[in-house]
Formats: sequence, C-alpha cells, structure tokens
Amino acid sequence: MANKAKLEALLTLINTSARDAIAMYERYGDVPTIDQMEPHPLDDAVDQIALKSAIRTLEGACSQLCTTLAPPAHTAINLVQVYDYACIRVAVRENITNILLDYPKGIHVNELSKIINIEPKKLARMMRLLATRGCYNEVDTDVFGNNRLSLILHSENPVRHMVSLHVEACAKGASVFYETLKDPKTAYSYEPTDAPIMYINNKEGIQGTFFDWMREDDSRRESYHRSMRGLNGIMGSLAVLTHFPFEKYSTVVDVGGGIGAFSLPLANMHKNVKITIHDLPEALVQAKGIWARDCPEAVAENRVEFEELNFFEQVPVKGKDIYYLRNIIHDWPDHESALILHNVRQALGPNSRVLIHDYVLRQLSRKQAAVEASMLGAVVAPEPLLANFGVGNMRSYQQDMSMLLLHNAKERTLQDCLTLSTAAGLKLEKVWDLAEACVLEYSAA
Ligand SMILES: C[S@@+](CC[C@H](N)C(=O)[O-])C[C@H]1O[C@@H](n2cnc3c(N)ncnc32)[C@H](O)[C@@H]1O
Repeated sequence: MANKAKLEALLTLINTSARDAIAMYERYGDVPTIDQMEPHPLDDAVDQIALKSAIRTLEGACSQLCTTLAPPAHTAINLVQVYDYACIRVAVRENITNILLDYPKGIHVNELSKIINIEPKKLARMMRLLATRGCYNEVDTDVFGNNRLSLILHSENPVRHMVSLHVEACAKGASVFYETLKDPKTAYSYEPTDAPIMYINNKEGIQGTFFDWMREDDSRRESYHRSMRGLNGIMGSLAVLTHFPFEKYSTVVDVGGGIGAFSLPLANMHKNVKITIHDLPEALVQAKGIWARDCPEAVAENRVEFEELNFFEQVPVKGKDIYYLRNIIHDWPDHESALILHNVRQALGPNSRVLIHDYVLRQLSRKQAAVEASMLGAVVAPEPLLANFGVGNMRSYQQDMSMLLLHNAKERTLQDCLTLSTAAGLKLEKVWDLAEACVLEYSAA
C-alpha cells in the first residue's frame, strides 16, 4: 500500500468504526455527548462485544493516524507528560464526584476548595486538566460539574475501586520499575515477593506478596475485592454469560472467585446452575455479606456455597461441570500458575470443562498474528492498522505491565497459555473471543 493510501485507509477505518458505534448507541436511545450528565443505557449492557470491537478499531486507527502525522517530538512528550492519574487520585481521595452530585449546575472551585481543603487555584488547574480529557465539565470559568465519565469515580461505583488500585499501588510499583530491573536481588527474579510494589513496600518494612499486603488492611482488602466487580464493565467480561452455553450445565466452581464479581451476575442470569465460590477466608467473609444483600434468593435457594480454598495447596471440589478462573492465572508467574492448574486438573471429571478468562496477548508480526488469530477464531486487524490493533488493544499490554508491577506475573500469548495448560494435562477445546479478553475452554487431556 502506498503511503498516502495507508492514511486514506486509516481514515476509512475511523469513519466506518465510528459509524458502527453510533448506530449501536442509537439502538438504545440518543447518541451520547461529551458533556452529558447521565449514563447512557448502553453503558451497562452485559454484552458489549460489538461496541468494543468497533472501539478497538476506532482507537487503534485514530492513534496510528495521529502518531503518523504528528512530529515525533510532539508524540514522544505526549507519551510521558501524563498526569491524569495524579489528578484522578486527588478526585478519588476527596470524593469530588460525590460532592458534585449536590451541584447539578456545577460548583465554583472556591466553594469546592472550602469543602475539601485544597488550595483553589491548584484545584482549578487539575480539574481543568481532567475536563480537557472529558472527565468533568467546566460549565463556566472555574465552575465544574459531573458528566458521564466523572460519574464512574463515584464511591459506590466498583470501577472507581479499580481506578484506586491503579493510581495507588500500580503507580507506586511503576515508580521503581527501572530500579527493580537493575538491582541484582530482583533483576532476574520471578518471585511474587520481588514484584516492584513489594520492592518499595520492603523498604517501608512490609514483607510478602501483594496479596499478603492487600489482605492485612481491611479497607485495602475490601476495595480490592470490590474493584473486581468493576472488571465486569472494564473488560466487558460478562459477555461470557450470553455467549457460553451455561444453560447446558448445572454446576460451576468459581476458583479464586473473590466476592463473586462473576458469579453474582451468573446466579441472576442462569438460575439452573449451582455455584461454588472458592477463595481465601477473608474474601469469603466479604462475599457472604455481599450475596446476602445483593442476591439473597440464591443464598436462600442454596444455589451458592462458599468454600475456603488455597489453590496452591488444595484441590477444588471435585467432579463439577465447569471450573471458571477469571483474572487468576494472570496474577501469577509460570511456576505458581502451573501449581494452580495442576490442582484444578485433579478436580476434573471426564466431562468437566475449565474456562480460563484472561487477556490473550496478540502478536505484532502480521504473519504470526494471522496464525494465532485463526487458532483463536479471531479477526486480524485490517491493514494498515498494526496487526494487534495497536492502541486499540492497548489495555492488554498495560495490564501485562500491571501484573508485572503488582505480582511479577504476566498476561500471556496463546502459545504461553498452551504451554502451561498442556503441561497441566489440559486440552484446548475452544476459544471464546469476547473482543477484549478471551475465554479458553479446556477439557481433561
Ligand atoms: C484478581 S482477583 C480475581 C477475582 C475473581 N476471579 C474475579 O474475576 O472477580 C484474584 C483472586 O484470587 C484470590 N487468591 C489469591 N491467592 C489465593 C490463594 N492462594 N488461594 C485462593 N484464592 C486466592 C484473591 O483473594 C482474589 O479473590
């Protein structure tokens, strides 16, 4: 493709993918606007595969076009001069979204400053940065109000807890990433205790893994588990509920299921299944409280049971239909992941299935991407987009870094997944491509 034709092709991709997304919004109501103050009905749809596919192309093509046409010095500084997370940390810590709910016409920074005790001119600058990104409206000079995006930061929104995890723990780990790569103690280590977040925690006298650190503080632990409910929307992972045929099965074991971020919607949508949630004791205490409040009928009808399990040391409850592991294997380096899968394998009956729900990292080589896409039953990015959709798939690579920073762990390519699962005695049966993450379905080999 000639150079100019590539740019034209990117413009066409932007045009068609944006029009696809617009048509989807119109099916649910009006199209959203940047300053809209209410959520759109499509925002919480269970199945967002079509929308996420369109946005993957749109984001990939927009970013590739800008990077191609802008001077490189411009783009290089754009990559690093990013303070959104520092400003959002202030907004979250001070519950600015909650406060703004009482001011539907907006609040002047001088008044907001008195409520949260932050110097008004500094406050105005960070609010303006965020409003420029589309998070909060500047309705008049120095007067700020909520919008559809800032509402996500409300204290009751589970996504806000995932935002907190990123602006606190991940940012802390990222600040010493380079040092961990050069320090002889950590440089070649894949021990979870040597993850960057623990490198910095060690200096503050805290030992162990991220999970040890997370568990020891009630509010940190509760926020972490609540953040998993945020993943439903962030990764669009609940699409599995409408694509995988849960109606054909009667038992599901949610291994490392936490508070049941996946199992709660499962219990609401597929009343035929009996669910076992396996996790560590503290997570299950929180889980029981949440189920009693949010899904008491499943508890009353004995459709859910909570069973303590350390997945490194114990075999899950045996002979059930489905063993579901969402965002579990990516939390651990290969050695620990192999132990978990080995234990899960021992629980399987002849017809059991294991569903591993994580990102599958795409290749940048177009040839390799085509091979893997055919195995995944997925589409290769249309040319001239980068073969992995470029920035359209950015979160999988960012998440890979988050796993490194928090756990010394990783997201995996399809080949990485196959190597692990084959060694554990699992046979890949089918791949469910859910546009952002994938579900790999295995049987006992
Ligand atoms: C990233 S969260 C995923 C939670 C859930 N699968 C979901 O997607 O919402 C990881 C989970 O693994 C659990 N976990 C960590 N170490 C564990 C262990 N040794 N045995 C069992 N569960 C563990 C944590 O308590 C947490 O609930």
